[in-house]
Amino acid sequence: MRILVTGGAGFIGSHVVDRYVDLRHEVLVIDNLSTGCRRNVNPLADFEKIDIRSDHLNKIFREFQPDVVNHHAAQISVPISVKDPLLDADINVKGLINVLENCVAHKIRKVIFVSSGGAVYGEAEEYPTTENYPPSPMSPYAINKLLGEKYLDFYHHQYGLQYTILRYANVYGPRQIPHGEAGVVSIFINNNLAEKPSDLYVFKENPEGMKRDYIYVEDIAQVNELVLNRGEHSIFNVGTGIPTATGDLLKEISKQMEVSLKPIMGDARPGDIKRSCLNIDKVIKELGWNPRTDLKDGISSTISYLKKQ
Ligand SMILES: NC(=O)c1ccc[n+]([C@@H]2O[C@H](COP(=O)([O-])OP(=O)(O)OC[C@H]3O[C@@H](n4cnc5c(N)ncnc54)[C@H](O)[C@@H]3O)[C@@H](O)[C@H]2O)c1
Repeated sequence: MRILVTGGAGFIGSHVVDRYVDLRHEVLVIDNLSTGCRRNVNPLADFEKIDIRSDHLNKIFREFQPDVVNHHAAQISVPISVKDPLLDADINVKGLINVLENCVAHKIRKVIFVSSGGAVYGEAEEYPTTENYPPSPMSPYAINKLLGEKYLDFYHHQYGLQYTILRYANVYGPRQIPHGEAGVVSIFINNNLAEKPSDLYVFKENPEGMKRDYIYVEDIAQVNELVLNRGEHSIFNVGTGIPTATGDLLKEISKQMEVSLKPIMGDARPGDIKRSCLNIDKVIKELGWNPRTDLKDGISSTISYLKKQ
């Protein structure tokens, strides 16, 4: 299969590319390297440095003629989206529309779109949250991810473009760059390596920290393999269904690294939500996917990776 991966030089996208290359698919990565990195790109994949908002995307689609487009490129920081909502909309909405227009023009069979289960549901009462729960996004990043899902539905109904939407929980693992809310595992490990105390942002009523569902990046790569030919016109939560408080995450990381630094406590930031955890019954039932990596093992692999950097 010929697969175009946007954002394939980034943290998650590069693991998805590795998986596709291992399966002997022909892969083209497009990425503007704003947060991604050329050395993340598998040497057996082709690479074009380009912005997803560019008019030149047309030439790339015409020449590569992908069967499937896997869309991972995005502005991923919630705090940046709050500070600069126009930038977030420009990349995460206008950039997506440019990709979808090219999919239609070049008769692409399917788009895999990456949304955020950690963001679109907002402060959900149903917990762990199912795909049917009415989204209530609380940041421009979350609003624009949800808008992206709506655009997928529009392009499906208007032009017959097939899609699968993956709503990830908080993904962690090797190659994650230490910024943004989802980067806490890397941030905490890097701080410990530098013997620097970590910031712990908390809501007053939850001093142990916000609760998140942490999923290892290789498990995420596997679900991207399964949806190449399945899960049409569907939305799947992809997480573990297990909540972990940020304070407990830091304790586990520090225990494994044998570090005992006290965190610096701070108030929750604009756009932060108190708790998020995904119900994953649908992805288990319909795709037979299961998270394989337990949090302790995933942390241990991430520590080993970051120690070598
Ligand atoms: N990390 C998480 O926990 C998490 C959770 C839910 C959803 N997601 C989504 O997964 C996807 C990948 O996230 P990530 O954590 O790997 O982040 P990342 O920043 O490592 O990857 C994003 C990639 O997109 C590229 N990019 C950004 N803007 C671009 C543009 N205008 N044109 C071309 N390329 C551009 C970046 O250079 C980078 O390589 C994003 O869509 C993100 O919203 C991530």
